[in-house]
Amino acid sequence: MKTLNIGIIGAGRMGNAHAENLAKLGNAAVTAVYDIDPAKAAAFVGKYPGVAVKNSAEELVNAPEVELIVITSPTYCHKEGLLPAMATGKPIFCEKPLCRTQEDFDELAPLISSYKNLFAIGFVRRYSPGVALMEKLLAEGRIGKIVCSSVCCIFGAFKREWGDWFTDYGKSGGVMLDMLAHHCDLQNKFLGKPVSVYAQAMRLPKDLEKPRDYVSATAVYEGGVISNLECSWLRGGPSDTYMTVYGEKGALKLSDSAGVSFFDIGGAETKMEADEGITGHLQDDISGNMYATEIATVVDCALTGKPPKAGAKEAIEAMTFCQGMIRSAETGEVVRF
Ligand SMILES: NC(=O)c1ccc[n+]([C@@H]2O[C@H](COP(=O)([O-])OP(=O)(O)OC[C@H]3O[C@@H](n4cnc5c(N)ncnc54)[C@H](O)[C@@H]3O)[C@@H](O)[C@H]2O)c1
Repeated sequence: MKTLNIGIIGAGRMGNAHAENLAKLGNAAVTAVYDIDPAKAAAFVGKYPGVAVKNSAEELVNAPEVELIVITSPTYCHKEGLLPAMATGKPIFCEKPLCRTQEDFDELAPLISSYKNLFAIGFVRRYSPGVALMEKLLAEGRIGKIVCSSVCCIFGAFKREWGDWFTDYGKSGGVMLDMLAHHCDLQNKFLGKPVSVYAQAMRLPKDLEKPRDYVSATAVYEGGVISNLECSWLRGGPSDTYMTVYGEKGALKLSDSAGVSFFDIGGAETKMEADEGITGHLQDDISGNMYATEIATVVDCALTGKPPKAGAKEAIEAMTFCQGMIRSAETGEVVRF
């Protein structure tokens, strides 16, 4: 079996998470790493001996042995890895979201949509069995015509401190971009094309002792489907992540902790089980094995030329929505797409 050689840009949390899952595959080997912080690269090689440390993103992407480029640097740095990566024409997997700013997005969108080789984006939830089951039940008409939807992504145990790039709104985009990119992507998948969005957000106010963030947004999708999105990084309080899609014949709820449920018109709940063609645990959450499935699929796509579950189209559509939400929160205006 052919082994795909992989180079990773950014040896932090996600760089290590992907490397760990790649090490379990029989058809992939991480051979090169670049991190702006030499200590991070050295720690990575300590865990994965034999991996070559490169001195720049350019050196890594142009190394002849690197056949798949994985970009796991912070969001605001994705562009500086993506541009040299795309110049090589090699397969690319970039963590979500595509980038931080509208300016970077305007530059990157045409490049990734015309990219001739694999471009995959890290919308890991697309690899969740719960999402596959939701998609199947919606396609079968289980709830009839969709009328409205809600997303709740509340994190009451946010541990990051000031100084971490995640707590810098200018670098991460806060919950509107970092967290909701996943859910905006799923909303786009289930509801179609967004027409408008209005958002109110805290945007990581610097005068708080501990970093906190919150957004409440309302979107309208084509056909008049209304969607409400609530997302936060808070200190204290409960944590939960779920999405409910309401239709004329009932509702479907997809929850990180409880899998998929169908609610009939009377409100009675039926737990839905994965069936043929859908493997894995419906309760797979962010720490579950969606990441392993995701990177294994990306490797397979790079080896076979198959399309990824989340590529340029999904990256662009989710970014368009998130940037609209950010613009609305910053201006107080409804943003129309
Ligand atoms: N798919 C998911 O569920 C998920 C989860 C967490 C993070 N992410 C995304 O993954 C990306 C990385 O997040 P993380 O949690 O691993 O961050 P992290 O801070 O843990 O790691 C980032 C690493 O990149 C290095 N780095 C910083 N600037 C760099 C540059 N210019 N070039 C090369 N390396 C650089 C840092 O030294 C650090 O080692 C972000 O875009 C984030 O939004 C995705």
